[in-house]
Amino acid sequence: RRGLQTAAAPASRIPTFAFAFDIDGVLVRSSDALPRAHKALSYLQSQHIPWILLTNGGGSHESARVAELSSKLNVPIDTSMFVQSHTPFADMDHLKDKTVMVVGGEADKCRAVAEAYGFKTVVTPGDILVAHPDIWPFSQQLLPYYKTFTRPLPAPIDPASPSTSLRIDAVFVYNDPRDWGLDSQVIKDVLLSHRGILGTLSRKNGNAALDNRGYQQDGQPPLYFSNPDLLWAAKYHLPRLGQGGFREAFEGIWTAITGGEAHGVKLQKTVLGKPHQPTYEFAEKRLISHRRNLLQCHGGTLANLQRVYMVGDNPASDIAGGNNYKSPHGIDWASILVQTGVYVEGTVPAHQPRNTVGDVWDAVTWAAAQEK
Ligand code: G3P
Ligand code: MG
Repeated sequence: RRGLQTAAAPASRIPTFAFAFDIDGVLVRSSDALPRAHKALSYLQSQHIPWILLTNGGGSHESARVAELSSKLNVPIDTSMFVQSHTPFADMDHLKDKTVMVVGGEADKCRAVAEAYGFKTVVTPGDILVAHPDIWPFSQQLLPYYKTFTRPLPAPIDPASPSTSLRIDAVFVYNDPRDWGLDSQVIKDVLLSHRGILGTLSRKNGNAALDNRGYQQDGQPPLYFSNPDLLWAAKYHLPRLGQGGFREAFEGIWTAITGGEAHGVKLQKTVLGKPHQPTYEFAEKRLISHRRNLLQCHGGTLANLQRVYMVGDNPASDIAGGNNYKSPHGIDWASILVQTGVYVEGTVPAHQPRNTVGDVWDAVTWAAAQEK
């Protein structure tokens, strides 16, 4: 296991503290590693202090992202130390034999991830646009681009009416949509269809007492978002809109069209990712098993993990998540906010961290000093 081979003296004991590092704004800014990221991670590895990466990012398979980060950060990392936004989708076995629509990411990369997770029938909004160009009039100029990677739609349920016989059983937003217009239109079409059958419209049975918009939800497919981030730290010096920006825009469209919750048509959605409890539970499980692997690799004794330092740049995801997480193992999650990403030095963060420091190396040295 490449990630576990580090030089340095054999571990007499694996420390009872560990780290969870956010990626964008802590270790990298888009494709550039931050100055002291390598120093921080390689120090921890030389001391056999366990750490994992916990990101709301995504868009490629865990193995590909880990290989890219290992080379960019110049430290050995393996998938046992890595949790990204859509990693939990890999466990959703009950939907793997269904027809799912995967939204977001570059070209066809997220479909490849979903298929690697075991999803057998994956459709994308690009496939739908190429099959039914009129579904979204404003992306016609992108058809040549889409045709380089899209696939024919699955066989129609009713060959006699191909344009209204593709049934979508679930919608997943894997990564930031690149065509907000097409993706919003197609997700709306699916969610307001009759039982997920594209091209149909589910209307209330003419009951005048109900809202005059006439929409209802009868057996709509579930909608999963992988990342709540409204903003994130890319290469540009100011934060950029993230997948949460797309979700907020879509919710605006949904409410304008259906009346939303006030009219009994609440958008049924599941949002995963930091700061939500399930993502932290998933990450803690991953960290505990990675720590056990370290023991196998280096020998020594393994007392229970007592504290995890959550190092992040975004108060709304990393700090809120670290502060609010309730560990089933009684592990204390201590949040540390760095000033190399979304958070602006000198402002009051919306969620108060255990400590605020300059960068990731400051976070590691401060945390190690707490454990002396
Ligand atoms: O899309 C990535 C962005 O939402 C933030 O990623 O690594 O800061 O959780 P990260
Ligand atoms: Mg970040």
